[in-house]
Parts: sequence; C-alpha cells; structure tokens
Amino acid sequence: MKSQVKTKSQKVIFECTDCGVTTPKWTGKCGACGEWNTLVEAPEIPSAQRSKSGQALVSPPVSLVEALADPAIVLPTGLSELDRVLSGGLVRGSVTLLGGEPGIGKSTLILQLCGAIAAAGGKCLIATGEESVDQVARRAQRLRVQSDSVMLMAASDVDAIIAELATQRPALVIIDSIQTMALSGVSSAAGSVTQVRESAAALTAYAKEHHIAMVLVGHVTKEGALAGPRVLEHLVDTVIEFEGDRHHNLRFLRAVKHRFGATDEVGVFDMTIDGLQSVADASGLFLDDRQSDATGSVVVPILNGRRSMLVEVQALVAESDVGRRVTQGFDNSRLALVAAAMSKHLDSSLGRNDVYASIVGGLRTTDPATELGLALSLWSSEKSVAIPHEVVAVGEVGLGGEIRKVPQLEKRLREAARLGFTVALIPRQDVDEPEGLTVIRVPTLSEATNVCRKLGRQVQSLGDPKKAEGRRGKKTKADANTRPARA
Ligand code: TYD
Ligand code: MG
Repeated sequence: MKSQVKTKSQKVIFECTDCGVTTPKWTGKCGACGEWNTLVEAPEIPSAQRSKSGQALVSPPVSLVEALADPAIVLPTGLSELDRVLSGGLVRGSVTLLGGEPGIGKSTLILQLCGAIAAAGGKCLIATGEESVDQVARRAQRLRVQSDSVMLMAASDVDAIIAELATQRPALVIIDSIQTMALSGVSSAAGSVTQVRESAAALTAYAKEHHIAMVLVGHVTKEGALAGPRVLEHLVDTVIEFEGDRHHNLRFLRAVKHRFGATDEVGVFDMTIDGLQSVADASGLFLDDRQSDATGSVVVPILNGRRSMLVEVQALVAESDVGRRVTQGFDNSRLALVAAAMSKHLDSSLGRNDVYASIVGGLRTTDPATELGLALSLWSSEKSVAIPHEVVAVGEVGLGGEIRKVPQLEKRLREAARLGFTVALIPRQDVDEPEGLTVIRVPTLSEATNVCRKLGRQVQSLGDPKKAEGRRGKKTKADANTRPARA
C-alpha cells in the first residue's frame, strides 16, 4: 500500500475508497460497506482544517409561513428534458451532482445548459479540470454555444475557483469534474475520497451561502458507483445520472435524489453531431427500424420513470448444444426465469439451444412487465411464427406459467394506442380500454401463445402480412376479428 504525503504531526488513518468511512486500523474488508481491499492510508485532517460544511449552521427561527415567503428561485434550463428531470429547472443556491460514465455526454450537456442559461440572461462559469479552455471553446463552437456570458477557466484548485466566483458572481457554476479538484490544506491526491469530499464540501458551502446554482460533474465507475464519492450524495441537493449505451445515441437522465421534486422522471436525449437533442417521443424513436413480419419480435409498453415507452423485445433461438444465454437490456436472470417457466408450461424447450434476447435501441430496463413480451418473442423465434406487427404484450410471468398483474397498465395501453397499436395482450386485470385498442386478457403463458398463433393466422389469411406495416392509427379487418375469446 502506498502511503500519501503527510506532515510530521499528521496521524494516519485508513479510508474506504468506496464508501468513504474512516478507521484507525487497516482491515481487508470495509466494516461499513463490506467491500474488500478498499481501505487506503490517508492523513487525518484536523477538525480546524476541515471545510466550512463541517461548521454548525445557525439561522434565526422563522415560522413555516414566513419560510415560504422566500421561495426557491428556479432557473429553467431551456432544455426541456433536463427541466422535466429537475421538476422545472435548477434552483438557485442548490448543488446538483451530475454522474455518468466517461464519454456519455456530461460535458456536452453542461455546455448546452450554460448556453441556454446565458441566452436567458444568466452568467455562467465553467471550471474545467479535465480539458483545456481551448478544447471546451471549440466544442462550444460546434454546439453553437457562443456567448459572452459563459466564462471558462481551466482550474483544479478549489480556492482559486472560489476566489473567481467572488469576482464573477455567476448565476450558475459548473465544476467539471469534481474528481479533478483539490483543496489546499488537504494533502491527499486529487481524486481520492478525502479530496473529493473536502473539495465538494467547500464548493457546496460557498454556493449555498452566495445563492449560486452549482453543478458538480462526477465520473461513475464501471460498477455504477459515483467513483468513490458515494459520500457526496448526502452533501448535495440533487443527484442526476446520465446513462445510455455508448454505441447507441439515446441517453437517459434520471434523478436519483432530488430535494425539490420527484425522482421518478426520466429525461430522454438523442446524441447527434449537433449535440444533445431533447426527445419528447421516445417510443417513436425505438420503433423506427422495426421490421413488419419478423419472427422473434414483440413490442412491450414498459415504464421508464413516470413515462411509458414502447420498446421492441427481440429474441433469437439458434440450434446448438452449447446452451449460450446472452441478454442485452435486461438481466440474464430474467431470461432464465422466463425460459424455465416456458419449458415447464409450454411445449417449448430452449434446452441447449443458444438463446439471445435484447431490447432494441440500447435501453436497459428492470421492468418485470417485459416478461410476457420476452416469452412470446422466444416462442415466436423457436416456432417461426411471426407475431403480428400491431400487437403489444405486457405482463409479468410467474413460475407457475401464470401472467401476473403490472402497475400502471392504463398508462401503458394509452401509449400503445397513441402509436397505433390495435391489440394488447395483458394479464387478467381491470383496465379501461383506450380507443382503438382491443385488449385480450391472457391468464397463462399457454393462452398467450394460443392467441398469438390465432392472430398470426388471421393476418396471414389476409394474404399480405406486410399490410401490417405502417398501420399505425389504421384499423383493418384483422383487428375487428381479434375480439378476445374470453375477456
Ligand atoms: P462528453 O460530453 O465529452 O462526455 P463526458 O463529459 O461524459 O465524458 O461527450 C463525449 C462523446 O459525445 C464523444 O464521444 C463525442 C460525442 N459527441 C457527439 O456525438 N456530438 C456532439 O455534438 C458532441 C459535443 C459530442
Ligand atoms: Mg467530460
């Protein structure tokens, strides 16, 4: 273990790089978070040197009514999907932590955010510890963010940034990234838990005292933790996370913690060569490349935050005796569960065949309501029966082969109807049918496959399965015949 620079009088303690807890003795396993080999030597910071955030807060008491007379000032960001996640915009005097993997688009988002705030008359300061001023300026030019009100400084010294804040007095300050910042007086290296926490604490204290909106950019490790500083989450008011698949253009922004609003909103962006574009209609985007008569494809209305989005679940069962199971967009265990239920309750055995299942478009979901769609797309691929293009399926699959209820079914069905789907396979569950959508209740897996077989034949008997294509919003004879056998 490498020891860090410390002064003679400083005592050495051990700090967990994962959760930030400190202990006087080294152990192999962190007693607080249970991670192994995460304790590293760190100098103990005497309390006198600790940042301002460590000081007690004192404000004279006010009544609840008086407190409301000074409402939070919200700065709309001008980026509709960001405003959606932030419940209207950034709050003055609040600190937001923007997390995400390297390369996902955090620096792009904050540049566009500054552009929008500046266009509305607010002054912004970007302190960049990762890129040069020149690099940031060139990217801003590409993004057409050109304003005298956006100031850039290359800095990693927290005291220098705070001094600049005092002269510039911006409405918004961005720290990109908090892992590159260092506070003099703290001898740990930049990026260490101590440095990140102390730097963030000093910056946060300044932002709150001077009513500046602050965004701290933080890199997320492969395991999904905000690199070490999970300790930052309690310090800031809002934590938003930017995620997506680097090989796809869609990006999702979620609030993990939000002191000024709900945390179940999701913002959707498209990363284009002109930067991030807000996507109001995500379903449309996901279904763009869908083929009309392919086997192994079912559309599912999933819930993503508060929104329902339609996604295509694809499956491919390929003959083999290796028994490979590959998933993308959801857990392997979900595929295992659905495959087990299918082999027990259907005349379907994926056995040692290779099975691939994915959600198209790079979206990840944990919504169990995808399970019926997953089962049907596996069945469709295995039996080479295409499920008609206008059908959506939603439901959780139980181990007994039963299709279980899902939350917010009506919202999901409304989204399906809005995009022109005309048939929905759902669990035995009460729901108002949206106009134009025929609901078929399928209490079990085997009833679901029976219905699909029948629906497939009906479409085929019309002669041209391609008729299903581009049907969004249109009804054909096939739809009229798909009245539920037992609704
Ligand atoms: P960046 O914002 O630098 O990511 P982060 O700060 O999270 O590390 O974005 C990096 C990626 O985004 C880069 O691979 C290129 C891509 N990109 C675009 O596709 N379009 C654009 O307009 C910009 C600025 C970046
Ligand atoms: Mg960056």
